[in-house]
Amino acid sequence: MASSRLLLALAVVAGCAVGLAGATDHIVGANRGWNPNINYTLWSGNQTFYVGDLISFRYQKGTHNVLEVNQTGYDNCTMAGVAGNWTSGKDFIPLNEPGRHFFICGNGLCQAGMKVAVTVLPGAFVGTEMVPPPVSDSTASAAASATSFSAAWLTAAALAVAIAIAAVA
Ligand SMILES: *[C@@H]1O[C@H](CO)[C@@H](O)[C@H](O)[C@H]1NC(C)=O
Ligand SMILES: *[C@@H]1O[C@H](CO)[C@@H](O)[C@H](O)[C@H]1NC(C)=O
Ligand SMILES: *[C@@H]1O[C@H](CO)[C@@H](O)[C@H](O)[C@H]1NC(C)=O
Ligand SMILES: *[C@@H]1O[C@H](CO)[C@@H](O)[C@H](O)[C@H]1NC(C)=O
Ligand SMILES: *[C@@H]1O[C@H](CO)[C@@H](O)[C@H](O)[C@H]1NC(C)=O
Repeated sequence: MASSRLLLALAVVAGCAVGLAGATDHIVGANRGWNPNINYTLWSGNQTFYVGDLISFRYQKGTHNVLEVNQTGYDNCTMAGVAGNWTSGKDFIPLNEPGRHFFICGNGLCQAGMKVAVTVLPGAFVGTEMVPPPVSDSTASAAASATSFSAAWLTAAALAVAIAIAAVA
């Protein structure tokens, strides 16, 4: 009986730890989706992107598409530096690298505003808050994030064990 309660408590903690590591899905244009005549600079300025998040494009399949290009491609609405293309109408694109990322529509409507630039920050989830790394060195910040995450996890685990023991007693 005691050990099954302990196992249950630990399973709950493990479930929470997985939940904490979830990523944000940034839906481009929110409920307006990926369409012409929307100012995506306003949209992206209202979001904070971290490594591990997703950016997703919702549009009518066959009408629009998504190309990842470089800054030259973004500025001029060309395919310069094309690094990927998506056409499903519901495209989930992982943001795995920090830095600037540029996406345009490749069907001629880039000129009509179908272009979006995002800045992806390194960072990590701790609890429900996303905490930017304290230093700019990427190796050091990865280590720092990992440390604070395991500290949070250990605290939660210790708490659950204490609760389980109290329940048994
Ligand atoms: C989008 O909004 C920003 C901020 O108000 C503005 O600087 C920019 O010119 C706008 N872009 C377009 C294409 O209207
Ligand atoms: C920015 O975010 C706020 C709060 O979520 C929202 O009310 C507002 O409409 C957003 N603005 C734009 C341009 O998306
Ligand atoms: C693209 O636009 C930039 C300005 O953003 C300009 O300097 C560059 O010459 C343009 N490149 C091409 C190939 O048009
Ligand atoms: C984008 O890619 C094109 C073609 O590969 C290249 O000529 C251009 O210099 C690149 N622009 C930037 C800003 O890296
Ligand atoms: C689009 O993606 C397909 C497969 O993912 C690839 O074969 C093709 O070269 C890509 N085209 C461009 C323009 O990047």
